[in-house]
Amino acid sequence: MSFDLVLFGGTGDLAWRKLMPALFQAFRHGTLPTGGRIIAVARDDLSDEQYRSLIQSRFDSVDLAKRPSAEEFAQFATLLQYLRMDLSKTEDYQRLAELLNARGADSVVMYVATAPSLFTNVCEQIAAVGLNGPTTRVVLEKPLGHDLQSNQAINDTLRRVLKEEQVFRIDHYLGKPSVQNLFALRFGNALFEPLWRRETIANIQITIAEELGVESRGAFYDQTGALRDMVQNHALQLLCAIGMEPPINSSANAIRDEKLKVLQSLKPWTLESIGQHVIRGQYASGTHQGQAVPGYAQEKGVAPDSTTETFVALRTEILNWRWAGVPFYIRTGKRLAGRDAHIVINFRPVPHPIFKTPIGAANRLVINLQPKDGLELHLMAQGAAQHQTEPALSQVHLNLDFDQRFGAERVGAYERLLLDVIAGRLNLFVRSDEQEEAWRWVEPILQYWKNDPAGPRPYAAGSWGPRAASAMIARDGNCWSEDM
Ligand code: BG6
Repeated sequence: MSFDLVLFGGTGDLAWRKLMPALFQAFRHGTLPTGGRIIAVARDDLSDEQYRSLIQSRFDSVDLAKRPSAEEFAQFATLLQYLRMDLSKTEDYQRLAELLNARGADSVVMYVATAPSLFTNVCEQIAAVGLNGPTTRVVLEKPLGHDLQSNQAINDTLRRVLKEEQVFRIDHYLGKPSVQNLFALRFGNALFEPLWRRETIANIQITIAEELGVESRGAFYDQTGALRDMVQNHALQLLCAIGMEPPINSSANAIRDEKLKVLQSLKPWTLESIGQHVIRGQYASGTHQGQAVPGYAQEKGVAPDSTTETFVALRTEILNWRWAGVPFYIRTGKRLAGRDAHIVINFRPVPHPIFKTPIGAANRLVINLQPKDGLELHLMAQGAAQHQTEPALSQVHLNLDFDQRFGAERVGAYERLLLDVIAGRLNLFVRSDEQEEAWRWVEPILQYWKNDPAGPRPYAAGSWGPRAASAMIARDGNCWSEDM
């Protein structure tokens, strides 16, 4: 199968940090279909050779194991071409059309890795020169809008010029092997399904903790905040994977229909529930790996009086037969105590205890997403204390380490997603109605915060976030996983 991959924003950060390394890995693994071209598009005046050298030099900052040898790069570079374009000029799209039409590849991928403000314009221009035919697929990175209205406006434009199945909205969390394993765990095993419900599960916690601060993205992040940057997309996609009903088959629409139902069933917010169940925080100065680090408001590009949240913790419920009454907690933030993304499924305690157990002991399934990747099943076992008159149990856990088991065979998120786009597989991409529903649900929180003079609560860099987040969950008699 021949393909042309047009990379708008070909000299940008995403192109050289994520996309080129991922394409190279696919090339090295032999999974990138042969007979492909990668056409990088940007404003700079570069020849193909200059562009190739630029990319080669960027590979110096890639992990050694993933860095091409000179010979490998020379082979990979034969796929790379460069096209100078001014994205506001129709005649430049005409030149692109000539380049693509001359070849007529089986699959044409337009990866729009530009500033979000250009997304709709690029799509309209592509259509204006007739490049929106059935072999074309358009890939869009988040953020697609900053609220429901702007997201709908983007989707309306896309619908005018493309069919839904031509649009590949990336949520890179769905490309992570650990997240795909969530689907495998739930729908490839009979073991958990009978237990996956309100009768046996007490509560569910989704944590995506980051150790880093905003790094060089202060100006962007200050307009965005953690709710838009992480909760509206990544965290809600994880919640969908945990909460959804088994789809009727593995087709993209069957999966997306079920995810949509979860989003539609999320408990609607009231002013009272937002006040009680949503905590926002902003990191103050603190430490990171033993070094003093500045607070968020002192970061480059951030307004000194910024009220942008770098942390969110919230409690919600899925209002359906399976989940009614089960709290789902979501927590994400920057500059937290560690980089750690995981999901904890806390099962209910035994109904009639005959053993002595540690306080609060119950079965628990921990799904580690990163940096660890695997499953831990916490069980009760009779340990060393056999001599006691009253039998006492202690907690043990079965530990399945997917990195150890599958290590070298695993495919990175962007590599997987790029191969899926080229092949036209939509399973791991987000449909417009899902995305809109997620915006609809977070929007009342954004509104509430706009009118709430209290602002985010400070937390020390290197901590687990504001104390209010622990108080919120403690009101239900629960605690976050690090305190279990
Ligand atoms: C991105 C956010 O979508 O995800 C970033 O914009 C965040 O702010 C990143 O750091 C986290 O991704 P990962 O793969 O490092 O967990």
